[in-house]
Amino acid sequence: MKNVLILSSSPRKQGNSDILCDEFMKGAEDSGNIVEKITLYDRNISFCRACYSCFKTGKCVIADDMAEILEKIRKADVLVVATPAYFLTMNGMLKTVIDRFLPKWQELGGHNVYLIITGHDRKKGLELVGKELTTIFENLGNTVRGIIWGEGVWQKGEVTGTKAMNEAYITGKNV
Ligand SMILES: Cc1cc2nc3c(=O)[nH]c(=O)nc-3n(C[C@H](O)[C@H](O)[C@H](O)COP(=O)(O)O)c2cc1C
Repeated sequence: MKNVLILSSSPRKQGNSDILCDEFMKGAEDSGNIVEKITLYDRNISFCRACYSCFKTGKCVIADDMAEILEKIRKADVLVVATPAYFLTMNGMLKTVIDRFLPKWQELGGHNVYLIITGHDRKKGLELVGKELTTIFENLGNTVRGIIWGEGVWQKGEVTGTKAMNEAYITGKNV
């Protein structure tokens, strides 16, 4: 039994990446894991101010939801990170969260990470997002075990019925 944390970064609830998060969740729960999904857009998360206070104190000066999220990431065995491609990169919500890793960046390694990436482009057009996120999470000391590509999907819900659905479920089941 593993502790699985899913970070869903799209502002669209039940959008394509969020639907794939739910499929992953179903698979992981069906094989007996404990799963929590955090919809980042629902949380109060500000931008990093680059004040570097955290280098002295180990804590961020901003009192918002990020401390709780960092604690959950630290405790998780498996981390699932989902983003739509926005102008060829991750979306701003996810980047904002990653920048706020700064106070605890040395404690965020050791996880198996899975990525969920959606976009209207085919996979080739989404690959930069996969490379960036893989590099970021591996530099933190994690292992990226798989990427679920929700390619060729634009409108909300279009991913339903594509092969990415089953991939997300099966990957979750074998987590
Ligand atoms: C600001 C913005 C920029 C986008 N840029 C891209 C892009 O560069 N490549 C792409 O394939 N799709 C792009 N899209 C489309 C979304 O990635 C696509 O609709 C995706 O399925 C959205 O995921 P969601 O339903 O989980 O929100 C963009 C959408 C928005 C809103």
